[in-house]
Amino acid sequence: MIDNAILQFDRALRAVFAPARSVRPVPGGDMPDAVMEDAQRRHVAGLMRINHCGEICAQALYQGQAIMSQDPATREALEQASREETEHLAWTEQRLGELGSRKSLLNPLWYSGALAIGLLAGRFGDRWNLGFLAETERQVEAHLKGHLDKLPDEDRKSRAILDQMKVDEAGHADTAVHLGAHELPAPVKVAMKMASKVMTRTAYYL
Ligand SMILES: [Fe+2]
Ligand SMILES: [Fe+2]
Repeated sequence: MIDNAILQFDRALRAVFAPARSVRPVPGGDMPDAVMEDAQRRHVAGLMRINHCGEICAQALYQGQAIMSQDPATREALEQASREETEHLAWTEQRLGELGSRKSLLNPLWYSGALAIGLLAGRFGDRWNLGFLAETERQVEAHLKGHLDKLPDEDRKSRAILDQMKVDEAGHADTAVHLGAHELPAPVKVAMKMASKVMTRTAYYL
């Protein structure tokens, strides 16, 4: 029990403070960087900081949900998704560096909040836990679609990263549905959208 607590705490610290690693090559990694004006570069960095922050939250959500899950198949799905989220974390982090920007200063706060939500979702049992996962991923997928529309056309590097993330997130949602996810009630979905809006609005700047 204590061992597991230390392990989980270590995982949290690494997610927030240590550089993430990717097994797959970074999408668009071999593309040349676009020439962008300062204001445009700052705008793209703001968008990528939101996405990095979203991936920090994904780490925490999945950690919380995996801690609470009773079913080995659910736990395995959460672990698999979480490994891909770690790659997303690495890609967005690298891109932020290339854009000459930094991660959100509030990441420890977002991490704690998302961990609490993940633990809470996990308390309702595996099917609701999976339902929460599926809905989260659907909302992230829609959000990424929005960001792809906002990115300057010439920034193909950022675009390649978000494109691949979008494919992965859709895959995570499908897996959750496949494993028997319940459909969340509409008010819960709305509350989730509102919570993520607070994060996205803040992380663009901070
Ligand atoms: Fe992700
Ligand atoms: Fe995902």
